[in-house]
Amino acid sequence: MADDDNDTLSGRLWQRPKSKWLLGIPIGGFLALGLGAILLGTMNYTLHKTSETEFCYVCHSHEQFIKPEYEASSHFSNASGVRAGCADCHLPHDNWFSLVSTKIIVSFDIIPELMGKIDTAEKYEEHRAEMAQAVWREFKENDSAFCRSCHAFDAMDFEAQDRRTARGHQRAAEKGETCIDCHYGIVHKEPENASELMREIAAEFADGDAAGG
Ligand code: HEC
Ligand code: HEC
Ligand code: HEC
Ligand code: HEC
Repeated sequence: MADDDNDTLSGRLWQRPKSKWLLGIPIGGFLALGLGAILLGTMNYTLHKTSETEFCYVCHSHEQFIKPEYEASSHFSNASGVRAGCADCHLPHDNWFSLVSTKIIVSFDIIPELMGKIDTAEKYEEHRAEMAQAVWREFKENDSAFCRSCHAFDAMDFEAQDRRTARGHQRAAEKGETCIDCHYGIVHKEPENASELMREIAAEFADGDAAGG
């Protein structure tokens, strides 16, 4: 009997902390979940905040150039009252991962920013062509995905467009031409000899296609 008591006692002692531990798992789980949610919440908040045009303006406000060019464009104000912010055309929306990785890449721009790479109109003009080309390459690579988050050929009412435009778009859709092939300099001033620079890019991508088979 005594042995049995001992057994159950030691058994209970043995079990008690174990069941406490077991209780600890869901508690710990909830804590981790709560903490995770808070972290994710602040991260989403940060991501959201850093996707706003005002954030881009921290470095790109440049009263003399980017801002007036953007604010004069049809993507800042138009008959429909739909505004495209910087992030709509320059940051991915398809998934969280590409948004986060692009943000990290953008945050490296703090270095050239601190070095004053584009802090005057003259310096900006010096670099405009290479920066525009970087953006064009990106749009060629992703088939103007950022434009397509708002515009789509199959949502276009070709009847409502004038004939030349509609034919251009129907052919572009068939031939797989991308928005940026025909529409550039719509928000920002075109770099000098834009069409020549654009041909360079088209050639690069044509070569790439040929090499890739
Ligand atoms: C920390 C300052 C800073 C912030 C914030 C910033 N940028 Fe930039 N950005 C720069 C600098 C500096 C360059 C020039 C970098 C270079 O060419 O090496 C640049 C270049 C660019 C380019 C040219 C293409 C390229 O890859 O070089 C684009 C497009 C751009 N930024 C868009 C944005 C957008 C959109 C935002 C807001 C989401 C933003 N930037 C926020 C400093 C910044
Ligand atoms: C946030 C949504 C949005 C994004 C992203 C967007 N657009 Fe637009 N776009 C609009 C709206 C809204 C209008 C104006 C419609 C109207 O006329 O009322 C417009 C107008 C246009 C026009 C006709 C007016 C003009 O300025 O010639 C062209 C061309 C155009 N967009 C091309 C593009 C291209 C190319 C891209 C990608 C670089 C792009 N859009 C990205 C919403 C967007
Ligand atoms: C083959 C050249 C070509 C391609 C590729 C092209 N467009 Fe156009 N688009 C035109 C032409 C030409 C017009 C007539 C106005 C102009 O010259 O800008 C036009 C006009 C427009 C307009 C104004 C329509 C209107 O009736 O007001 C929008 C919006 C537009 N394009 C969006 C796009 C988008 C988004 C893409 C990519 C999905 C695209 N286009 C691809 C040639 C093209
Ligand atoms: C409707 C789409 C659209 C919007 C909105 C837009 N951009 Fe751009 N951005 C482009 C395209 C397309 C290019 C490539 C050059 C060109 O075609 O003008 C570009 C080029 C750039 C460049 C490279 C230098 C240059 O002048 O070409 C910078 C920097 C830049 N954008 C920053 C911004 C910032 C900051 C905002 C918000 C104030 C913004 N963009 C809003 C489409 C857009």
